[in-house]
This record gives sequence, structure tokens and C-alpha cells, in this order.
Amino acid sequence: MLCKDKMLIIGGKPLMGEITVSGGKNTAVAVIPATLLSDEPSTIENLPDIEDVHALIEILEYLGAKTEYVPGKYLKVFPEKADGCNVPFEFTRRLRASYYLLGALLGRGGHAEVAYPGGCEIGSRPIDQHLKGFAALGATIEDRGGLVCAKAEPMTGADIFFDMVTVGGTINVMLAAVKAQGTTVIYNAAKEPHIVDLANCLNSMGARIKGAGTDVIRITGKPSLHGTVYTVIPDQIETGTLMIAAAATRGDVTIHGCIPTHMESLTAKLLEMGVRVSENDDSIRVRPQYEQRAVNIKTQVYPGFPTDLQQPMTALLCMANGTSTVCETIFEQRFKHLDELRRMGAHIKLMDRTVLIEGVREMYGAPVTVTDLRAGAALVVAGLMAKGMTEIYETAYIDRGYERIEEKLRSLGADIRREKI
Ligand code: EPU
Repeated sequence: MLCKDKMLIIGGKPLMGEITVSGGKNTAVAVIPATLLSDEPSTIENLPDIEDVHALIEILEYLGAKTEYVPGKYLKVFPEKADGCNVPFEFTRRLRASYYLLGALLGRGGHAEVAYPGGCEIGSRPIDQHLKGFAALGATIEDRGGLVCAKAEPMTGADIFFDMVTVGGTINVMLAAVKAQGTTVIYNAAKEPHIVDLANCLNSMGARIKGAGTDVIRITGKPSLHGTVYTVIPDQIETGTLMIAAAATRGDVTIHGCIPTHMESLTAKLLEMGVRVSENDDSIRVRPQYEQRAVNIKTQVYPGFPTDLQQPMTALLCMANGTSTVCETIFEQRFKHLDELRRMGAHIKLMDRTVLIEGVREMYGAPVTVTDLRAGAALVVAGLMAKGMTEIYETAYIDRGYERIEEKLRSLGADIRREKI
């Protein structure tokens, strides 16, 4: 990626004040393709205004749907004339979640030709479990020069046991199975909040999904679904990133519009570090604590510590008192931020999939380059706590998943801006 601007942060200023979190990225990217499962219009509210959302809207238009998007308010999708079933690489390379078009188009018309997805390079990220699920529903799958071609007329419900817990696989099979004949049971299903949110959205369209949020999901297929008006849940990872940034700057920040129960694994670790965290129904306050203790973290599927917060948390631990370990169990290459953190003075060693962090008293601003979305979040956190100026290159990765991040941080008192290169 060659991006035409850079982010400049002068660190050391405590974040102070109140902020409202945006709608969830990983929910939004599932709910938008879901609108293709009906011929009736749907309205989706609380979408984050981010690149992944923009890319999906362009894909829906390319397939023949009409859309009306008012950022910050709603997206209306009119899918009646969405007759296309082919999504080329020029679209899918822009986001990982383009693979949800496979499930949504199979559900819509029993036929999908979707190029393999792009997205952040954080590991090998195969989609064999998604394809195994479609095959179990009766689809024939062909791999044609970078295109996955799936056809199923009709699809029939089946028992599907995933070899590992997969968020994308669970969502993709749900999207297809809601229109299959008969009952599908997904065993070893993912339990992340966005799985529950997608199930709620699909059920509001007339689908019959039970058990979302547990590891067994039962879906009774229906021949047609209707349109919906649906509000996506707040972003769990943006909430977590803001909590970490508040702790990193020894700030005092109240995050509104979030769901505190989604944040329990992070809250527990921050409390263990000695950071003060308090909760209300839909807000979390993170308060100053001079000394922060080192902790050990292992990423896990929900409700464990999310891999998406591993990188920003690693940045925070760079200045904790003592030696921390961070073990990444989900994506084997989610470590590209480490070299950049070292440039800023962090003492870090990578041993297999475990990062050993020796806390330092100070970090220093430096020119650093973003390699993936959450690496970008880690570098922003590091920039906020470092002395002097950090220049962050390849900011487009950050814009894939964070809405107006520098505006939000500026409103909390951060010295952060963008500049054209
Ligand atoms: N896996 C397979 N085969 C499959 C599917 C997954 O081997 O068919 C493996 C993966 O390689 C990985 C593990 O299973 O080692 C889990 O992958 P999962 O399918 O759960 O991840 P994903 O669907 O590719 C989504 C999010 C990620 C988030 C992970 C884990 C979207 C678009 N992406 O990815 O979000 O890290 O779940 O929670 O929802 C991000 O937001 O920065 C991000 C990368």
C-alpha cells in the first residue's frame, strides 16, 4: 500500500474527557452482505464510516443493488435488482470480509463467484472451513484461477462441525444456511459478539437462528426473508483500543455507547495492571494510575482476550513495570508491529508465538510504518505515550477499521494530526 498521508503524534499528553464509540466493524461487514438475502429494502444504522464499509457498498452496487448511504446515520440497501453473482479481485482485495459475499450470494440465488479476499496479512488465513460448510449444505465448489465458484440448487441443511473456532466460517455458513431447506447445526461455532449481532439481524429479517453466542447454533432455513431496520452493536475493538490509549497516557476517559460485558477480558487485565476501570450500563471509565504492573496475556476466542487487541495491548505493556508475556494463539504472523515498537525504544523479544516485553521507563517518537490494521492501532498507542514526535506511515490500514481516529483522539486532548506526504 502506498498512502499519501502520514499521521503525526506528539506524545505524553494524558487523554481526558468523554467519547462515544462507533458501530462495530466486524458486525457491519457481516450485516451489509446479509441485506442481499431479501428482495426487500433494508436499513442498517450505526455503521462505522470506514473503508471496509465503503468497499462493501461499492460491491453491492456492482452486483446491481441500489444503495443510499448517509454516513453516521444509515445505509439503505435496495437489493431487488442485485442479479450479479460475480465479485472480482479488484473489489475483494480491499477487504477480508468480502468472503461474506460467498455465503450471502449462495443464500440469495444459489450461485456465487467471488475472488479470494485481501485484508490484513497476519497469518495464512485459509477459508477451507467456510468451503467445507458450503459443501455440507450441498454446494459444489470449484477453484477457478483465484475465484471461488460455489453453486447449490437447492441448498439443504446439514450438521457442520468446524475443525477450529472460526468467526468468518461461522458467519459465512449462517448467511447461506438461513435460506437452505431444513435445519443446519453448526458445532464448535464462534461466540464473538458479532456472531450474536448477525443472528439478531437475520432473525429480524425472518430467519430462525437459535443458540448464537454458544458453540452450537441451530438454523432452520426459510425460502425467503424480508427487509429490516437494524442497528449494529458498538465496536468492541475500538472500545478496547480507547481503553488502552487512556491507560497508556495515564488519562481519564469515559467511553460512552459501548457494551461493558464485551470488554471483560480486557478490563480484567487492566485491573490486574493496576489501572482503575469502572462501568455503567453502556459506558466505561478508565482512570489514571501512576505505576502499571506487567501482566501475562494469551489471545483466545471470545470470551477470552481478543487477538484484535493483542497489538495495542503489547504497546501499552512496553512501559509497564516488569516483564510481560503476550502469547498470540490465533494468527501466527500478528507480530509485524514489534520491529516498529523497537524503533521507539521498546525492549521486546519474540519467541515462537510469545512476545517477551521488558517494560521501559520511556519510549521515543520515531518514524514507523503500519503493516496491518491493529498494528496501526498499536503504533498510535505507542505514539501517544512516547516522548517527542512519532510519524506513522501507511495510515490507510488504520482507516480500514477506525472511524476518524485522529479526530476522536484530538477531542480527548491528544496532539495528533495528518499531513500530506
Ligand atoms: N482458519 C482456518 N480455516 C478457516 C478459517 C479460519 O484455518 O477456514 C484459522 C485462521 O487461519 C485463524 C483461526 O482459524 O488461525 C481463526 O480465524 P477466524 O476465521 O476466526 O478469523 P477471520 O474470520 O479471518 C475475523 C475478523 C478478524 C479477527 C478474527 C478473530 C473479520 C472480517 N475479521 O477474522 O478481525 O481477528 O475473526 O477474532 O471479522 C481485525 O478486525 O483486525 C481482524 C483481523
